[in-house]
Amino acid sequence: MARIIALANQKGGVGKTTTTINLGAALRERGRRVLLVDADPQASLSAALGVDPGALPRSLFEVLTDGLAVGEVIQAAGELTIVPATIDLAAAEVQLLNEVGRERVLSDALAPVSADYDDILIDCPPTLGILTINALTAASHVLIPVECHFLAIRGLAQLMQSVEKIQRRTNPRLRLLGILPTMYDPRNVHDHDVLTTLGAEFPGKMFQPIRRSVRFAESALAGKPILSYEGSHPGAQAYRHLAEEVLRA
Ligand SMILES: Nc1ncnc2c1ncn2[C@@H]1O[C@H](COP(=O)(O)OP(=O)(O)OP(=O)(O)O)[C@@H](O)[C@H]1O
Ligand SMILES: [Mg+2]
Repeated sequence: MARIIALANQKGGVGKTTTTINLGAALRERGRRVLLVDADPQASLSAALGVDPGALPRSLFEVLTDGLAVGEVIQAAGELTIVPATIDLAAAEVQLLNEVGRERVLSDALAPVSADYDDILIDCPPTLGILTINALTAASHVLIPVECHFLAIRGLAQLMQSVEKIQRRTNPRLRLLGILPTMYDPRNVHDHDVLTTLGAEFPGKMFQPIRRSVRFAESALAGKPILSYEGSHPGAQAYRHLAEEVLRA
């Protein structure tokens, strides 16, 4: 059975997709069998791994709405293996609302392939809608990337309430894997204060921060994880370190 990690935060642009890709690549480097699931209608994960979402005949959308086997849409993206998304997925939000057991559709879909992987990473959209609920219901763990900014911390209480609701109602085995501070600038006193605040609110649950670097955007544009785009970059090393922390957690 794979460990299934949902990368979630309803705030946009905090590093969910970047972390899904680069943690996935770092786990893969360690010899783990990794599957990345793009559960965001923006399809940023697919695009950042060089998959053209416009050219896909089938994607997670058909899996969630037509009952297509997930194995039918799993594909290679460089050295990684992904379940791609397309913009159609936005319609799945609406279609799933009328579905019986709508929170468990993704969980049921992943069950047949779960034994084929060690780690399944699900990249959530920046909402607490039905797609994120599906990801949290399928997951054994939730990893929360947080931008090092006070405004970014404010939404965390609401997110934690959602996680608790999921634990009570649909997925009692869901655990907080940890909080990952992203876009950290050590020269900035404000960023340091944010780390202190997060550390006090989530004792023992904070991963080492990922520093801000333009290489992350550049590597996404090149359709690669930073680990293959510039493997010796400190950003690549930071995600290798995160993979070690995650494997120990
Ligand atoms: N550590 C970092 N330093 C600098 N830029 C970063 C870092 N991590 C991510 N980025 C950039 O910030 C932007 C947002 O990152 P990303 O797409 O991973 O966030 P997200 O939470 O998935 O966003 P969304 O909520 O829209 O899905 C991207 O352009 C990405 O390249
Ligand atoms: Mg994203």
